[in-house]
Amino acid sequence: TKLKLELVTKNIRPFPDFPSEGILFSDISPILKNPRALTAVIDLFEDHVRMTYPQVELMVGLDARGFLFGPLLAQRLGVGFALIRKKGKLPGPTVSVSYTLEYGKAEAEIQEDAVSAGQKVLLIDDLLATGGTLYAACELMKKQKADVLGCLVVIELKDLNGVEKLKPFPLFSLVQY
Ligand code: PRP
Repeated sequence: TKLKLELVTKNIRPFPDFPSEGILFSDISPILKNPRALTAVIDLFEDHVRMTYPQVELMVGLDARGFLFGPLLAQRLGVGFALIRKKGKLPGPTVSVSYTLEYGKAEAEIQEDAVSAGQKVLLIDDLLATGGTLYAACELMKKQKADVLGCLVVIELKDLNGVEKLKPFPLFSLVQY
């Protein structure tokens, strides 16, 4: 586990002042470029989920980088994957919520039939900053009457205390800054 975490950490690149002044952007592109690092990410998530949430029925990923890790993990676990997208991208009946970001405002949306009432779901994204995005996703899940077991992220920016915002839903992160 320690070696896998080191490999993941080594493959995250910080970019100060992107996309705007004062924001420290964590670039996960090197993880995707390195198959061993990507496997390590999925291995670490898989271990945690099998141990903590063996009852999980569906992974729900956040636009856009939650889509990079979510389906890989879902396939490992033998469960399905559903998309939460930025507004206006999904066809058919949808449910949406608006939220504030570290840098701006946005609206998140899911197809009405993506999740069923009572379904046990885990949310996944690349990074937790203020928690606004994952909080919005939790709100969407509440609207759908889904049973949110918790949230998974590769990177957690501790200073912004997003974990408080997500309460009572638990957060699991691989790397903390
Ligand atoms: C980033 C990141 C998370 C979110 C975290 O995505 O991938 O989804 O911000 O920030 P928060 O915890 O303060 O809400 P971004 O909104 O930049 O969108 P993108 O994935 O389309 O680039």
